[in-house]
Amino acid sequence: MNEKHKTNGTSRREFLQTSAGLAASTLLFGLGGARSLAAPGASVAAGSIPSVTLNNGLRMPRLGFGTMTLKGDPGSVADAIALGYRLIDTAMIYNSEEAVGEGIRQSGIRREELFLTSKLWKTDMGYEQAKKGFQSSLDKLKTDYLDLYLIHRPSGGDWKGSWKAMEEMYHAGRIKAIGMSNATDEQMNELMANSKVKPAVHQIETHAFFQEDRAYDYLKQHGVQMEAWAPLAEGRHGLFTNGTLAAIGKKYGKTNAQVSLRWHYQRGIVAIPRSQQHGHRMENLNIFDFELDGSDIASIATLNLHQTLFPEWS
Ligand SMILES: NC(=O)c1ccc[n+]([C@@H]2O[C@H](COP(=O)([O-])OP(=O)(O)OC[C@H]3O[C@@H](n4cnc5c(N)ncnc54)[C@H](OP(=O)(O)O)[C@@H]3O)[C@@H](O)[C@H]2O)c1
Repeated sequence: MNEKHKTNGTSRREFLQTSAGLAASTLLFGLGGARSLAAPGASVAAGSIPSVTLNNGLRMPRLGFGTMTLKGDPGSVADAIALGYRLIDTAMIYNSEEAVGEGIRQSGIRREELFLTSKLWKTDMGYEQAKKGFQSSLDKLKTDYLDLYLIHRPSGGDWKGSWKAMEEMYHAGRIKAIGMSNATDEQMNELMANSKVKPAVHQIETHAFFQEDRAYDYLKQHGVQMEAWAPLAEGRHGLFTNGTLAAIGKKYGKTNAQVSLRWHYQRGIVAIPRSQQHGHRMENLNIFDFELDGSDIASIATLNLHQTLFPEWS
């Protein structure tokens, strides 16, 4: 690692708070539960991932853990929590909610130290069904509230009825923030103009190859937090071997995954990388001790293909 990017102790904390260009809205999440990473070179204290303040005042960790294929794998979730992840992203359709609930139980962490996200699937659209879908997620997760609940794919059915139900559950304190995923411009405009509770988060596909600059500007302008699904593009289009990312990583002693996640972080995007490997989970956390410079950002901008890498989900 380049010496000038090494930080430690209190000075590292200051560095974390100032390095992302979002210092005013950045706080450290869950400092009370800090534990040290065991691996050599790991340089972020577990439980001290910076957070962003959402448009309703809720604090959300700026790096989390995705669980899309982790059905039947509570151990990965428990390990992620032990490593320091506090934001866990799941969804009814992943069939991973039970594993997440069990992983949380195994971790022994207090519920209030976590930021738990789940999502309402298409089959549960509509006012009444949304309430049932939400309760079913709570039951599987073995919790009585969610930090964030998203409409997963509002591509059919009565999504406005779902939103109304989510607003009610939000006001009842059963969800701390509500948001959208994969919404169209029209749907976002509709919510921004007419909903009682504005979406706090929009979770969409974005990574170095699909930078979504227009959505990025829109969400920033409207105070909606952008969250990246597939922040590592699931490795598609050769992300883990890409020469541009590798050349940048070489400067800082970082991998392509770490450069990618640092890029999201510096843009102010919350990323939720998934991994079934302990080493990768640890690697993905270790992004807070270096900073991409202007030339790095300009190089990554050239990787943008301006189109989804997941056409099968469009
Ligand atoms: N809202 C939506 O519609 C939507 C859609 C898709 C995903 N999501 C959410 O977003 C999360 C993340 O997206 P994703 O799971 O699609 O993909 P991703 O996080 O971009 O990529 C996951 C893949 O990258 C590999 N990987 C992770 N870290 C690595 C590292 N450091 N080095 C090399 N390989 C690494 C993993 O393999 P290993 O397991 O071998 O490490 C896995 O194959 C999901 O889990 C889910 O929670 C939401």
